[in-house]
Amino acid sequence: MMRIACLGGGPAGLYFAISMKLRDPAHQIDLFERNRPDDTFGWGVVFSDQTVENLMANDPLSGSVIRDEFAHWDDIDVHIHGQTIRSSGHGFIGIGRKRLLNILQDRARELGVDLHFEHEASPDLADWSDYDLVIAADGANSRIRTRYEEHFGVDIQVRQNKFFWFGTAKVFDAFTFAFEETEAGWVWAHAYRFDDDLSTFIVEMAPDTWERLGLDRMDQPEAIALCERIFAKYLDGHSLMSNAAHLKAPEAWLQFRRIICDRWSYQNLILLGDAAHTAHFSIGSGTKLALEDAIKLAEVLNRPGLSRERALEEYREERNLEVLKLQNSARNSTEWFETLDRYLHFEPIQFAYSLLTRSQRVSHENLRLRDRPWLESVERWFQSKAMGTPVNDPAPPMFAPYKLRDMKLVNRVVVSPMAMYSAQEGTPTDFHLVHYGTRAQGGAGLVYTEMTCVSPEGRITPGCAGLYAPEHVAAWKRIVDFVHGHGKAKFCLQLGHSGPKGSTKVGWEGYDVPLESGNWPVMAASDAPWSPANQVPEPMTRADMDAVRDQFVEAVMKGLKAGFDMIELHAAHGYLLSSFITPLTNKRTDEYGGSLENRLRYPLEIFRAMRDAWPADKPMSVRISANDWMGEQGVTPDEAVLIAEAFTQAGADLIDVSAGQTWAECKPIYGRMFQTPFADQIRNEARVSTMAVGNIYETDHVNSILAAGRADLVALARPHLIDPMWTLRAAAQQDYRGVVVPPPYLAGMSQLARNLAREAELKA
Ligand SMILES: Cc1cc2nc3c(=O)[nH]c(=O)nc-3n(C[C@H](O)[C@H](O)[C@H](O)COP(=O)(O)OP(=O)(O)OC[C@H]3O[C@@H](n4cnc5c(N)ncnc54)[C@H](O)[C@@H]3O)c2cc1C
Ligand SMILES: Cc1cc2nc3c(=O)[nH]c(=O)nc-3n(C[C@H](O)[C@H](O)[C@H](O)COP(=O)(O)O)c2cc1C
Repeated sequence: MMRIACLGGGPAGLYFAISMKLRDPAHQIDLFERNRPDDTFGWGVVFSDQTVENLMANDPLSGSVIRDEFAHWDDIDVHIHGQTIRSSGHGFIGIGRKRLLNILQDRARELGVDLHFEHEASPDLADWSDYDLVIAADGANSRIRTRYEEHFGVDIQVRQNKFFWFGTAKVFDAFTFAFEETEAGWVWAHAYRFDDDLSTFIVEMAPDTWERLGLDRMDQPEAIALCERIFAKYLDGHSLMSNAAHLKAPEAWLQFRRIICDRWSYQNLILLGDAAHTAHFSIGSGTKLALEDAIKLAEVLNRPGLSRERALEEYREERNLEVLKLQNSARNSTEWFETLDRYLHFEPIQFAYSLLTRSQRVSHENLRLRDRPWLESVERWFQSKAMGTPVNDPAPPMFAPYKLRDMKLVNRVVVSPMAMYSAQEGTPTDFHLVHYGTRAQGGAGLVYTEMTCVSPEGRITPGCAGLYAPEHVAAWKRIVDFVHGHGKAKFCLQLGHSGPKGSTKVGWEGYDVPLESGNWPVMAASDAPWSPANQVPEPMTRADMDAVRDQFVEAVMKGLKAGFDMIELHAAHGYLLSSFITPLTNKRTDEYGGSLENRLRYPLEIFRAMRDAWPADKPMSVRISANDWMGEQGVTPDEAVLIAEAFTQAGADLIDVSAGQTWAECKPIYGRMFQTPFADQIRNEARVSTMAVGNIYETDHVNSILAAGRADLVALARPHLIDPMWTLRAAAQQDYRGVVVPPPYLAGMSQLARNLAREAELKA
């Protein structure tokens, strides 16, 4: 038996008290809530079916009352630019917050919890010395957590947008996102029904729009009247209701606070629900997390033989993992609404797709499961746009064609540049013929060469391929001819110079490790070595710059002779040109260092010289590191937008958006599709074509990225190392018949398609 004080009577505190009593009725629990039983902020909350199952398993009695009162709905309506895009199958359930709390209060009383309303709980632990445990369930602004802040390692991030949680008697039959343009900027609402005659209606906007609308100076009735006018066409004459009337109007507009805590307990004080963590309302999971925390904490505290210390460790470890996963999705979703301007030029159907997939928890195939006809309408729209003519049959977005200058790609899948370290004195060998030949036959629309170096000193390793000698031209031409002669793939030559990362061992003997012997001198923007183990590079003189520029131009002309379709300039990953762009390694004080304009001067000079030498009908791209992963000290994604704009003005048709590898100490945040947000930002802020790359490996990733307009092309590197036929396999998986299969391989392709279809049938 334990004596427990629960501070706060929201979902977390009430459900914890219930869950404890269910496990041991002998526990004595006092719950203190500052409000009256029927006062509450907010209106309705949404849940998933999974949460309801968890509630039923924990307490079938309250679970079934809650379940029976839920409002269910399947559709999401997105209103934008005068159009409504409706998709279905989303399966939401909602309940009024007040009703949920009343159900939980009744159940807690019935189980013998002592509820003390209108009782302001002291934030001082000394006042709770009669209790074995003190539960901080007093919400995101927890006073007691704040008092002992340093023991919890609290991290609070205040997000920028302003929102107001209204209610309305207008009953929405779909979860509704309504975007309205005002003279002060865009304002939008998240609205959903939570019982027979009420809906939640959250109004959100950017802070500058809020100020321009004068909301920082309006009282509540004025603010409400303004919002009612903006959303009049959705409200059908119903008013917006506030239950924050006690607050002055500007304070009633909130900014979301993302909270995480390193530790969830201190002495006998334990954090629960929003006091421990928050998740942005746009993914609607705060109440679910609070209830599931409560179940877990009650379970570990009552498990026989488990020490208090172990119980709290298990509670924190398990719940924190769940919280981090949700906060990751919530961050994506929050950022989507904060960077809404990026997507407003999309056609409504793509805007809706982007909105539905914003958290990256919902993908192309999830949407197919939810609403196949709608997803197929997106696919038809995407194909029609790509073909420039209406298309009746839906097809996966990855199989839409794409055009760069006069070069036509049959699809959007790209074999990313990958150094093979298998050349001899810069000459590609039979290995390269087989390597590129196989990948070109594997179905990708575009195949990149590895970084091909413009001079012997410009190589990374002695095994790197080059294009600086006549024998290199002949060897590459043999490969290009094979690629062109055996399929539809186009072939892009990536040209680069290793700079400070040169004169190192081949990849599998140790990345960026200097050679045992035979090192050659290296150069860079400044004398910053890649690592203490690497050579100190010689800062480039103007004469060096001229020489290297001419080598790039010479390599372009050789590339033309060899028959390549496209050229990419490698200006990423800490090599020579990247050493100019990133301020981490460019310490020059002349016109090539300092401001971004100066740091870009030499890379742009090279790009322009290459562009002049390359035929106007053939495209060029540039690979950049869009984030040095070093915060403001290095290149940031915002700066990458400017870099992309500068190269586009110099004639680039595509920005190949990689990141990092520019500074040995940088700390990338890995994950699936981890660099795609940069391709998205660059594409939709600079309005240029981008290629996404980096830990993209499923067909679903590729289709989602393309349909959501996050990039125009998608490159896969490592997946193509072990599966050169990645695109053919993807076509078979998706039962797409339009892919070009080399005739000798047709039998294999049809068998694969048959087997996969059979497997899918069995699974279904
Ligand atoms: C605009 C908005 C929309 C949301 N939409 C959803 C949604 O759709 N789905 C969802 O799951 N979640 C949603 N949430 C989040 C959800 O409301 C919270 O995550 C959830 O309520 C957390 O429960 P809790 O019990 O931890 O905290 P709270 O619900 O905040 O409860 C804390 C309680 O403690 C009381 N209290 C605070 N201090 C004291 C004190 N000193 N003494 C006594 N009592 C005190 C408060 O009065 C309150 O009743 C939304 C939140 C916002 C702001
Ligand atoms: C073995 C190997 C060699 C690589 N060589 C190059 C290269 O020559 N040029 C380049 O720009 N990127 C190179 N990369 C980076 C890839 O093009 C790609 O950006 C990176 O591997 C992330 O994509 P992935 O997750 O699909 O592998 C190389 C990657 C690998 C694995």
